[in-house]
Amino acid sequence: MNLHTIVSLGLLLALVVVVVSSKRSKKGVGAQQLDHDRFVVAGYLPEYRFYIDVSEAGKHLTDLILFSVAPNADGSIQYFVNEDNLRAARKAKHDNPKLRTIISVGGGGRSKHFNAVASDGHTRQRFVGELLDLCEKWKIDGVDFDWESPMNEHQISVYIRLLHEAHAKLNPKGLLTSVALHPGQTLGKEGFMSVDRVNLMTYDMSFQRGGGHHADYNSFKQAIQQMLGQGQLPPEKLIVGIPAYARHSTKLANVKSYAEIIDEKLKEAGAVDMPGPTAEKLDPNFISRNEHNKFLFDCQLSAQKKTSYAKSMGLGGVFIWEIGQDKFEHKVSLTEAVMIVGNGTRVMTKAELSSVYDPAGTGGGSYQNNSPPLTAHDLGSAKERRRKKREEKKRAGMHVEL
Ligand SMILES: *[C@@H]1O[C@H](CO)[C@@H](O)[C@H](O)[C@H]1NC(C)=O
Repeated sequence: MNLHTIVSLGLLLALVVVVVSSKRSKKGVGAQQLDHDRFVVAGYLPEYRFYIDVSEAGKHLTDLILFSVAPNADGSIQYFVNEDNLRAARKAKHDNPKLRTIISVGGGGRSKHFNAVASDGHTRQRFVGELLDLCEKWKIDGVDFDWESPMNEHQISVYIRLLHEAHAKLNPKGLLTSVALHPGQTLGKEGFMSVDRVNLMTYDMSFQRGGGHHADYNSFKQAIQQMLGQGQLPPEKLIVGIPAYARHSTKLANVKSYAEIIDEKLKEAGAVDMPGPTAEKLDPNFISRNEHNKFLFDCQLSAQKKTSYAKSMGLGGVFIWEIGQDKFEHKVSLTEAVMIVGNGTRVMTKAELSSVYDPAGTGGGSYQNNSPPLTAHDLGSAKERRRKKREEKKRAGMHVEL
């Protein structure tokens, strides 16, 4: 080994040390374990479902979204999740050190005071301040806004102001800001710049056409393409929804959880009291059937195909509404099925992906599609884009938090 080699090795070693330490310091305080480049597999959990084993569920998630709290008219927080729920979430995080927890704000029927709070500078400030305190107190990693729904231009503009102020306050603390939107809703470039993620609620899409599958693969793809086609939202910020519940094909108000469907299948097979794992007692086709007595849902295979599509489009990830409806058993769980594709343990075959799984009679229909189809090629690889973005930010001397 000559001097030249030794000097080179020394330089290389120094470089490695610098790279490793800069990688560490990029992540926020307390966030050393959280890998923000990981494909997101998030699960919402409403307060009325905390009877499930939250730590066990957290094993198959990157993000647990607690549903929910809401604004009171004076900008204080109204709690639907209680302290026991928050404690269970904190424990799940303790048991799964890579798990992020996020608090959802609002939701259907819980959005009455958004307009009042968002319209006024003082109440906005108070609300954002209380959300920050809540995150710090319970070691929560971010806030997901779910005003359902702003009804006019004014409401959209004050919503964007609220999101913007929340992001400005939370981001420097290393906390995420996201917003939940229905297919077809947009916040424009300015709104999307104020959030780290958009959770697109790609389900309940049968109302628009008066029947059929509420979350078929075609409608799912078209809702994504429509969102990206506007060119305002970077794909890596987009997280798309997978339902863990079925909706009747014609009686649209009738829903059943994935767990209820599995339990009915067990009953029909006369296997309820038989010993052994559920997966072995069911017809093996259950993983690829998304219809049961006119109730249409995502089976494991269609949930996995959606996940695989989201990955191929360079999206940030997928989320499940909601994991309390899942049947948390090995080889039966929808969340587990999604996670093994999300984390790359299972790669779907070309044959599985090329057949749009939509059995005859379930009425796939289509959501709406005005934009030309985008391909993964159009978008480039997600990793590459994230890397470029980090470099741009670094050059601009900004705090990096993706
Ligand atoms: C991927 O997810 C599955 C299901 O949660 C888990 O069993 C497996 O260990 C994970 N693999 C990796 C490499 O993280």
